[in-house]
Amino acid sequence: MQKFVIHGRRKLAGSLVVESAKNAVLPIIAASILTEEPIMIKNVPKIIDVVKMFEILEKMGGKVSFIDDDCVIDNSHITKFEIEPTLARFIRSSIFMLGPLVARFGRARVAYPGGCDIGSRPIDLHLQGLRELGVEIVEEHGFINCSVDKIKSGIIHLDFPSVGATENIMMASVLGEGKTTIMNCAKEPEIVDLANFINSIGGKVSGAGTSTIEVIGASKLSGGTYLPIPDRIITGTYLLSAAITGGRLELNNANYEHVYSLIKKLRGAGCKIKTDQNKITIECEGRLSSIASIETQPYPGFPTDLQAPLMALCSVSDGMSVITENLFETRFKHVPELLKMGANITIKDRMAIVRGVKALYGAQVNATDLRGGASLVLAGLAAHGETHVLNANYIDRGYFELENKLASVGADIIRSSS
Ligand code: EPZ
Repeated sequence: MQKFVIHGRRKLAGSLVVESAKNAVLPIIAASILTEEPIMIKNVPKIIDVVKMFEILEKMGGKVSFIDDDCVIDNSHITKFEIEPTLARFIRSSIFMLGPLVARFGRARVAYPGGCDIGSRPIDLHLQGLRELGVEIVEEHGFINCSVDKIKSGIIHLDFPSVGATENIMMASVLGEGKTTIMNCAKEPEIVDLANFINSIGGKVSGAGTSTIEVIGASKLSGGTYLPIPDRIITGTYLLSAAITGGRLELNNANYEHVYSLIKKLRGAGCKIKTDQNKITIECEGRLSSIASIETQPYPGFPTDLQAPLMALCSVSDGMSVITENLFETRFKHVPELLKMGANITIKDRMAIVRGVKALYGAQVNATDLRGGASLVLAGLAAHGETHVLNANYIDRGYFELENKLASVGADIIRSSS
């Protein structure tokens, strides 16, 4: 098991380049199944969840090769339509391979997906949408078996703007006939990026980024090359690393609009933030004032994936913050670990009441999920003394070599096998 060992109280200073978005790359890899022509995805982060998605493709007969940070995918020889169960159960994104598989081959079989333990994470909206497209789905013994002769078109209304369900239904419709409308769909930038990728290889998706998406079925897609959007959650994590250490960072390949909800909060807390076309500069002096209220919402509201990282900053800000987690029912597992470091946090249902303390102190803490782990790393950067963040593998799911990125701007952090 690997861990991060951090000596805190160092101000970060320097510049970082933001990687491509995990939550855009994962559905784009799934969408590559829609075509038998080769696809190149540029600047692919070699994080665990991406590596697992490539393994799933290869086990079905897909071919994946890397040229530096670019990857070439060739799915012309896919011969299996079952997603390897161990891999499927490891990541959440295995579930949105159903859409492209049934679109291109009319069949798919997948075990119930895994992913971070932040709630029950049902897939009812995915299955309901696929059934409305005419897919026959039999759930048995922990597997989902799908089959369809011809994908129907129609109007799908989502009870909740689920990111994954929107992506699955969009991809299932791309090779259908006629027009499919998805209402009350997710509006995240990653949805827009997936639609842009699909359109770049001959698909016809419009409305992405709004609450209604229209897909006109295409008979065949081509190949192509695509550069995904920057990772807005990594951008936010880097901004918070400067804020919590009183440092100054310049972030390149950063889209400030995608993290505007956080930028607004950090400016209100006293950070100086400048935004350019694809660059964000943040400068923070001394102790920040508290961010009174944070409510996680679907995009463009405050992102649930930055709730835990922001809580670390609130723990050492001046005053009280009330953080409400509206998306996932058990996404406060980082709180007991922050308490070990001296934080003052009380949980009432979906609300965390955070009272800023004068200082956090190094401790041995356990990462229990990806973003909760990032929160503990941020807390370690601010804490007096030495912090050990165990289960670094959780953090590696979404951040590639986070320790090297933070060390390159002055953090005292190393990876260690314990
Ligand atoms: C995606 O998960 C992201 N993962 C998550 O990021 C992110 O937190 C989440 O969207 C919300 O933004 C990927 O894109 C791989 P949802 P997803 O479906 O698609 C309920 C990270 O840290 N729901 O939008 O699983 C669900 O229970 C990860 O990078 C249903 O009820 O999220 C939740 O309450 C964590 N039925 C809400 O919708 C369904 O069929 C949002 O889930 C599907 C979802």
